[in-house]
Amino acid sequence: MSATANPRGRADIDLRQAAKDHLWLHFTRMSAYAAAPVPIIARGEGCYLEDLDGRRYLDALAGLFAVQIGYSHGEEIGAAAAEQMRELPFYTNWSYAHPRSIELAQRLAELAPGDLNRVFFTSGGSESVESAWKLARQFHAARGERRWKAIGRDLAYHGTTMGALSINGVAPLRQPFEPLVPQVAHVRNTNRFRRPADETEEQFTAMLLDDLEQRILSEGPETVALVILEPVQNSGGAFTPPAGYFQGVRALCDEHGILLCADEVITGFGRIGAWFASDRYDIRPDLVTCAKGMSSAYASIGAVIASDRVAAPFLEGSETFLHGLTFGGHPVAAAIALKNLAIMERERIVESVAASEDRFRATLAQLLELPIVGDLRGVGYFYALELVKDRETNATFSDEESERLLRGFLSERLYDAGIICRADDRGDPVIQVSPPLIAEQRQFDEIVGILGEVLTEASRLVTR
Ligand SMILES: Cc1ncc(COP(=O)(O)O)c(C=O)c1O
Repeated sequence: MSATANPRGRADIDLRQAAKDHLWLHFTRMSAYAAAPVPIIARGEGCYLEDLDGRRYLDALAGLFAVQIGYSHGEEIGAAAAEQMRELPFYTNWSYAHPRSIELAQRLAELAPGDLNRVFFTSGGSESVESAWKLARQFHAARGERRWKAIGRDLAYHGTTMGALSINGVAPLRQPFEPLVPQVAHVRNTNRFRRPADETEEQFTAMLLDDLEQRILSEGPETVALVILEPVQNSGGAFTPPAGYFQGVRALCDEHGILLCADEVITGFGRIGAWFASDRYDIRPDLVTCAKGMSSAYASIGAVIASDRVAAPFLEGSETFLHGLTFGGHPVAAAIALKNLAIMERERIVESVAASEDRFRATLAQLLELPIVGDLRGVGYFYALELVKDRETNATFSDEESERLLRGFLSERLYDAGIICRADDRGDPVIQVSPPLIAEQRQFDEIVGILGEVLTEASRLVTR
């Protein structure tokens, strides 16, 4: 065993071998590691990660859109966790409250938009989406209506539990697990990249709203419980909403008595320069689902935040939301989330994203000079670069070309070049860039420097 095989852990475990023998990575082609080493991230500091061999990487994905405050707050957050461990290491929110879940619920109600005041804790994003759909169904039932359907958008990702998976608009993710939870319809997302050049923003919005309205009508409005949308859709590459879109969605939901859920698992907690994207886009949702950034991923905790109107039927008589999770609102996770939110407030992290977003975007925009980069989309610290085969026509890659480009070249080459970001082909191929919210100009430049080099190589491989 080499000296660095397991520097701080059990001396008898060779991490490299044990990773191959025992660990099952999520959404990972394990066969890729039959011959190659499993990438093992061993340390973090600021916006940077270090692997077992001491190689440094700029984490331009914030550990899956989650580590808002970066990796250097372990001492402070650890102290809050240790204090909670001493006081009350665990109690559940099934029938009982405890101080930290109460404090966190109050803090979230303060930060959340409008009259979103009632917090149901989960352990992560999928559970939040799952819980929101169940809550919507039971909300309608409590008011004497049987509504069960959900409407999501093409290509959107909302998680992996069966309900959340059913809401996904990514067909290849759903197919192996069919039959799924009935019934979900998918409508157009807000991808504007290949829309006709002469289409105005107003026309684009009208087309999207017409599509949603037609779908609601064809499903039967009285059967639809929930419309669930990300304020900025990640999968497909940071699709921002056109002006008037969410106001139109809200109006359609109101007209047909449907609950509107903003899935803010990524966009919540500062990623787009506001505590919640629902505020930035004036979405006025009935429900918000969130997770990731609530604790900067220092602990696994998520939530559904419901409006007073949605909570009301459950605060009367014998009505009970028949749903629960042992770990929902875990006191240690809640203490960690509270500390994370306090750090974000103290360090003015959300304000800093709002102040830096234009510079970040302008820096990334330099990459549009490369022939392989067709589009830069996003907002705040949440961007995607769409890769194209031909800049003149914006022609995209075939499935095989995309596979060769992303899996055969970019994913590995980017990692070797010292950056973690995501080459994603759930839609047309994109590079997703979403660093910790403490990233500054130095990191913006580093991202563009490395991406510039690697994408130049990629251009030579694939463009004409
Ligand atoms: C919008 C959205 N919803 C839900 C989820 C699921 O969250 P989790 O992976 O914490 O279950 C994700 C995960 O990336 C997400 O991006």
